[in-house]
Amino acid sequence: MKDLLKLKTSLSEDIENILNAQIKVEAHSSALYLAMSAWCDDQGLDNAASFFAKQSDEERAHMLKIFNYVSSRGGKPISPEVTNIPVDFESFRGVFEQALVQEMFVTEQFNSIADKCMLAKDYVTFNFLGWFLEEQVEEEYVARRILELFDVIGEEGTGRWEIDRHLVKVTFAGE
Ligand code: FEO
Repeated sequence: MKDLLKLKTSLSEDIENILNAQIKVEAHSSALYLAMSAWCDDQGLDNAASFFAKQSDEERAHMLKIFNYVSSRGGKPISPEVTNIPVDFESFRGVFEQALVQEMFVTEQFNSIADKCMLAKDYVTFNFLGWFLEEQVEEEYVARRILELFDVIGEEGTGRWEIDRHLVKVTFAGE
C-alpha cells in the first residue's frame, strides 16, 4: 500500500535525490553562518554576529522548506550530517567574502536543480524553486553591498567598528 501511495507522487527519485542534496547544502550554510557569528562575536563585532546568527536561522528555514516539500510530495527527506565547519576565519572581510562565495554556490545549485526539473518536466518542483532563486538575488545583493563597505570605509583604525555599525543598514529594496 505504501508503495502504491508513493507511485501517486510525481517526485522522481532523481529529483528527490538532488533536493536531499540541497537540504544538506542549506544545513551546511546554516552551520557555517553560525560559526561566522561566533567568530564575529569573539572579535567584538556585535552587529556582524547578529547578522550571521539571523542568516543561520534563515538557512535552517530554507532547509526545512525543502525538507517539508520533499515530504509533502511523498518523498523521504534526509536529515543531513554536517561536517567541516571552520572555527577560525582569516579576517573580518574574509568572512563576508566567504559568505558571498557560499551564496554564489547556492545560486548555482538552484539554477542547476531548476535545469534538471525542466528536463524531467517536473514543473511543480520548478515552480517551488522560484522562491529560492528570488531569495538568492537578495542574499547575493546584501553580501556584495556589505563587502563594498570594506572598500569605502577600510578596516584601519576604527574602520572595523564603523563597518560593523553600518552593515545593519544594508537592505534589499527589491526590483
Ligand atoms: Fe539558502 Fe542563502 O541560501
